[in-house]
Amino acid sequence: MAALAEGTRAAESGGHPALTAAQVFETARAREEALSRLLMTFVTSGLIFMLFPGTFLGVWNLLKISGRESVASISVAWLQAHGHAQVFGWVGSFILGIGFYSIPKLRGNESSMFRAAWTCWGMWTGGAALRWLANVYSWQWRLLLPFSALLEVAAFLIFFRAVARHRQDDPAKGGMEPWIAVVASASAGLLLLLLANLAGCLYVALLGAGPAFPHVFDQRFLALMAWGFLVLFVWGFSAKWMPVFLGLKPFRPRLLLAAVGANLLGVVLTASGAVSPGAWMFVAGAGLAIAALRMFEPRVKEAKTRGVHASFPFFVRSAYVWLLVAGVLGAAAARWDTSGGIWGASRHALTVGFVAVMILSVGQRILPAFAGMRLLWSTKLMFAGLALVTLGCTLRVSCEIIAYQGYAAWAWSALPASALCELAGLSLFALNIFGTFLFESSHAHKQPLLVSAPEKLA
Ligand code: HEM
Repeated sequence: MAALAEGTRAAESGGHPALTAAQVFETARAREEALSRLLMTFVTSGLIFMLFPGTFLGVWNLLKISGRESVASISVAWLQAHGHAQVFGWVGSFILGIGFYSIPKLRGNESSMFRAAWTCWGMWTGGAALRWLANVYSWQWRLLLPFSALLEVAAFLIFFRAVARHRQDDPAKGGMEPWIAVVASASAGLLLLLLANLAGCLYVALLGAGPAFPHVFDQRFLALMAWGFLVLFVWGFSAKWMPVFLGLKPFRPRLLLAAVGANLLGVVLTASGAVSPGAWMFVAGAGLAIAALRMFEPRVKEAKTRGVHASFPFFVRSAYVWLLVAGVLGAAAARWDTSGGIWGASRHALTVGFVAVMILSVGQRILPAFAGMRLLWSTKLMFAGLALVTLGCTLRVSCEIIAYQGYAAWAWSALPASALCELAGLSLFALNIFGTFLFESSHAHKQPLLVSAPEKLA
């Protein structure tokens, strides 16, 4: 341990043994503050995307759909604007922010790396914002759609280069750890998704009649987005964090890689038009991942719920139930959907039940620590947000099928309530994070920062 600290100290002093311990700590503190600022900026812009262009537009769309009792009556470009703001603007910003924060190279205080990270933030945020404007206002969309997609690809490549340089520069890195391999496959999925997005935008800009992807392309694009990118990222981070946070036995690496393989096969099948076999592969992938992560096996250590609400393990596990629901509904949709309702319910179980519940749970567990070793503002708000999102998602997933498929008319009147519950839950999450950033004081200056916040959490 002493040797590790000594080695770290030497590395952090940049090989200048003349630096005193106080100077080393001061350098580490300044660096940690700069990293936290970067992370908080990514998180803040992600939350703004989630709230206004994402959730408010989603609620607006759903209120209009419920009022007219038909999904066909609403602007497809607006639906896609909502989806893009949520997945790229919110989730993407969080992933990039946490990714940059976790690259040890940035801890080497290389100013060029910080410049790259800030440039990435500007391009990513600008790209996602322009896409939303083009979709919603149809202003200069033939120009803005491909331009926004190019900005997003460029931002991702900057991020990718930073990660790749870190791995090349670190001779201690041997083979890839299995959880890193899963995150790497998710990153490859994101790159593919961004390239597909660029291709779709170019196609629409040159040949489209309006700023929306054609239906069949969009459905396949959404399958790649959900199962080839979002799900894989959550699995990778679950493998890294859940054994610690939930006190589970170590995950089963081979089974997890098999789950990734099943998912990727599912994406390929869906993209080539074999939608039903593809959907069954997603069910198989979800089942394998749950077994690999031992999500429902008894814990062997105390769950780490200090600083968060005690219901944290329950909600993390519930997210994995939603994943299974999403998979099974996808398989059912391939067989029985006549209205888009079962597909919509499956997608919603995945995006809100799995991804959003996971972000609300794990985000409130890790982000306060990453943002300068703060405490979460309110554990009660955390519980209220998660409970409301879960209630809204349950109402939405069940009633969307019943209403859209025409099984019972009363279900149309439950849909607006579902949207308002989810809106309230997601807003409480944003409020809690903003409260944490604004009203909780940073304790970074009191910590021995030779060990980073991610390592401290573990
Ligand atoms: C208050 C919460 C939300 C509401 C009310 C909402 C509403 C909607 C509605 C009405 C649709 C149109 C399709 C359908 O009828 O199912 C839709 C599609 C979609 N939503 Fe949401 N949503 C919410 C949250 C989210 C979240 C958190 C995400 C992602 C993390 C998300 C991602 C998507 C995507 C990707 C689509 C498909 C867009 C397309 O057709 O290209 N939504 N949402």
